[in-house]
Amino acid sequence: MTTTTSRDVQLAKRPVGMPNNDDFQVIEAAVAAPTAGQIQVRNLCMSVDPYMRGRMVDRKSYVPPFQIGETLTGGCIGVVEASEHADFKVGDHVESMYGWREAYTEDAAGITNLGAKLDAPASAYLGVLGMPGMTAYVGLLGAAELKDGETVFVSGAAGAVGSIVGQIAKLKGCHVLGSAGNPEKVALLTDELGFDYGFDYHNADLVAQLREGAPKGLDVYFDNVGAEHLQAALMCMRQFGRVALCGAIAQYNDTEPRPGPNNLAMAIGLGLTLRGFIVSHYDHMRADFRREMTGWVTSGEIKYRETTFDGIDKAGEAFKGLFTGANTGKMIVNI
Ligand SMILES: NC(=O)c1ccc[n+]([C@@H]2O[C@H](COP(=O)([O-])OP(=O)(O)OC[C@H]3O[C@@H](n4cnc5c(N)ncnc54)[C@H](OP(=O)(O)O)[C@@H]3O)[C@@H](O)[C@H]2O)c1
Repeated sequence: MTTTTSRDVQLAKRPVGMPNNDDFQVIEAAVAAPTAGQIQVRNLCMSVDPYMRGRMVDRKSYVPPFQIGETLTGGCIGVVEASEHADFKVGDHVESMYGWREAYTEDAAGITNLGAKLDAPASAYLGVLGMPGMTAYVGLLGAAELKDGETVFVSGAAGAVGSIVGQIAKLKGCHVLGSAGNPEKVALLTDELGFDYGFDYHNADLVAQLREGAPKGLDVYFDNVGAEHLQAALMCMRQFGRVALCGAIAQYNDTEPRPGPNNLAMAIGLGLTLRGFIVSHYDHMRADFRREMTGWVTSGEIKYRETTFDGIDKAGEAFKGLFTGANTGKMIVNI
């Protein structure tokens, strides 16, 4: 049992519009030796996630806002360095929400023990085998009620969630379209991940692209982006189509409220379902997700990408990168 130190990342001020490096500060904190029921952990890697942008605003939401001068939290994988809990041994890998710091001592309750030997690289538990992978799985099969052979469009398709959405839909025999932010990402979709049609949304006529890729219309739109993407997809939905409202990253840095889609009334005549969801609404699907996704990843039927930044002091830069398209697949900070 040792007392050690950790560099932690805190919010220095609340970002206005696009986040910047000076919105974050790195401080050095003492990490106490564990007492009864606690474990001391050194983090290996951590997740930066778009939803954190909402927590940087001081407003009521489904999770409370981050406070200035407090260490941020987020998904991370670490190794136990000292343990005062019978179920955790030194050398065990653990998954927790005590990211944005190099090390911590906390009560073991609420921390998941992944065991001494992992079946996949640690970072995969923050991506395809973790929260983003489960978001793709439950959003498509739960919220959107996907049926085999349907036509599916996913935006943010080269990202952590979107790249898995498209591949699950392909495994279900669907015709899959994806949009992404540059030609390299589009090539990844169609050449490596099996998408039937991809396009770069910059300077694109979104409706024309969707009509080209899906002449008979869309049964499912998995929305990671919101704004113009949502409006265009609504124009192209088929009768009784479903829209899974997963995220609206194009709107997260808005400084003024944005008008909604101007064609929402399309949902009336077409009998559309628009269903918002948070991954935790579908906790009952977790065991199925773990079993199926582990199988698909192990067999190579689902591929995953990561973009990594090295060092806790790069966390702010990595976070900003989510909004400039710096990542392909899951954005990870190696610690
Ligand atoms: N509902 C839930 O429970 C849940 C859980 C996890 C994530 N989400 C949401 O799902 C979405 C994807 O999350 P993720 O973790 O997989 O992130 P990600 O897609 O890996 O990373 C964000 C990507 O968004 C794209 N982007 C950024 N600004 C954009 C804009 N203005 N217009 C269009 N695309 C833009 C960028 O790719 P390009 O280069 O393609 O622009 C960027 O790489 C986010 O909206 C997130 O909030 C929801």
